[in-house]
Amino acid sequence: MAAIAQRHVQRNRVLFSQRTMRSLTTAPVQCPANAATFVVEDTTPKCDVVLHSSRNVNVQYVPDQRTRPQNPIDDNSSGLVSPRHWDEDWSMQQLQEAAENNIVATWGSTRAVSSTRMMERGEGVYVYDKSGNKYLDWTSQAVCANLGHTVPPAIKEAVIRQLDKLPMVYGGTGLTEVRLRLAHLLSELCPGDINGFVFPTGGGEANEAAIRIARRFTGKHKILNQYRSYHGGSTATLAATGDFRRWFAEAGASGFVKMFNPQPFGFKWGSNDKEKTEILLDMLDEQIRMEGPSTIAAIMLEPIVGAGGALVLPAGYMQGVRALCDKYDILLIIDEVMMGFGRTGKFWGFQHYEGVIPDIVTSAKGLTSAYLPLAMLGMRQKIKDFFMDNPLGWGATYANHPVALACAYEVVKHVVKENLAERAASFEPLMVEHMQNLVNKHSCVRQARAVGLFGCLDLIGPDGNMIQEYQQTSPPNVVRFRKAMLDNGLYGLFRPPLLHCAPPLIIQEHELSDGFSRLDESLKELDF
Ligand SMILES: Cc1ncc(COP(=O)(O)O)c(C=O)c1O
Repeated sequence: MAAIAQRHVQRNRVLFSQRTMRSLTTAPVQCPANAATFVVEDTTPKCDVVLHSSRNVNVQYVPDQRTRPQNPIDDNSSGLVSPRHWDEDWSMQQLQEAAENNIVATWGSTRAVSSTRMMERGEGVYVYDKSGNKYLDWTSQAVCANLGHTVPPAIKEAVIRQLDKLPMVYGGTGLTEVRLRLAHLLSELCPGDINGFVFPTGGGEANEAAIRIARRFTGKHKILNQYRSYHGGSTATLAATGDFRRWFAEAGASGFVKMFNPQPFGFKWGSNDKEKTEILLDMLDEQIRMEGPSTIAAIMLEPIVGAGGALVLPAGYMQGVRALCDKYDILLIIDEVMMGFGRTGKFWGFQHYEGVIPDIVTSAKGLTSAYLPLAMLGMRQKIKDFFMDNPLGWGATYANHPVALACAYEVVKHVVKENLAERAASFEPLMVEHMQNLVNKHSCVRQARAVGLFGCLDLIGPDGNMIQEYQQTSPPNVVRFRKAMLDNGLYGLFRPPLLHCAPPLIIQEHELSDGFSRLDESLKELDF
């Protein structure tokens, strides 16, 4: 019997004769020289449905052996934080290294970051860089620092008070007094029955919410926007946007249809407002019918095109759009993110167009004078009523943030109390006069526009065309001009071929005149 393999199969434990063992496996086995039988401990579990198993036969699947990759050797997460973070000051070299090694740019490529000036402090309409150079803030940063760079004490106190009292309440679970007060104040500042308010964190987020709300309220999908427009950096709001930034995200959103602006740069619709308005409204009526009124949720417009060049609509156009919206049961969304809170000489930009009341209005920037991030969205009563029993379908952790709301509440009261919209309107003649001087004097300035404290110059080259296309790399003279502006103490957002002039609404006459003379000096770089 010793020659016959004797297997006594127990779960995971097999008794083998010496010969059987040799025939069943080539794996080295510890085998005592004079033993007739021995036990192999098989640690691999047997497959349950079979009766018999031996090493690697009828056992649970034995996988490949692969070497695991090493942890990345360039992983620098040592868990240690360098002591410099507790130093009061960093050297210029340390700052420069962080700029080169750790910062990523947004709309522009990152290479330019390391040569961008490092700003240190602000006062009134001025900002100062790390080397102590003083600049006039010519575009209120991104047309948002409307009250300049000295925070009025009441605003500072309101923010600190809220931080002390209760720094965070999630808007989905609780109300705060300041949220109710601000919503009430805005319902008084908005015309008509714009009574319902929600507070996202930025302009793009407010427009994203506006698109969602329009779609949910109407049950329709399409949104019509203009080519010369900017509505935000999220996927849907970039699809709504008309300018080159749309190209970054076009693949990701559906239902956005573009309309031509009344103010194209390459041709004209007519030689006066009446002619233009008639053509444009007839065209829009036809476009709506071709798209299908039952598929269009909203027409969404800037009241005065901001980043696209301070473009004021021809008389009667906005009223005509409102009427078409009513005729075809389409909502009108007005994006006041840049124009709201007095920039153009009216509290809201759409108030330049008598009788027009949007169904949804969005704003941001001037709402807090950019001291803290906050936006607003106002809706008319009929939309608010709909959402009494339907969820909005939009939200964010930081929406309705109490500290930002406390800031906004004081800023809006300040704008009202100081009459900053009227103040901006009173500066319009001076803006026009200075811009006229630049048009007269500089061959590189084709034309200019100004409404309130919001203006723009169109810069051209010797061929009479725009000095560069919006999205192209700047030619050397534009690079020189950008540097000349900084060297002449003018700091601002410049997207050639458009040069915006939009200083803080608190600017004094002599400061505005000084700004225009700095611009006058800089423009010599571009003249031909
Ligand atoms: C008209 C308009 N809408 C929306 C936005 C986007 O706002 P935010 O950058 O706060 O998201 C901007 C920003 O410049 C804007 O000018």
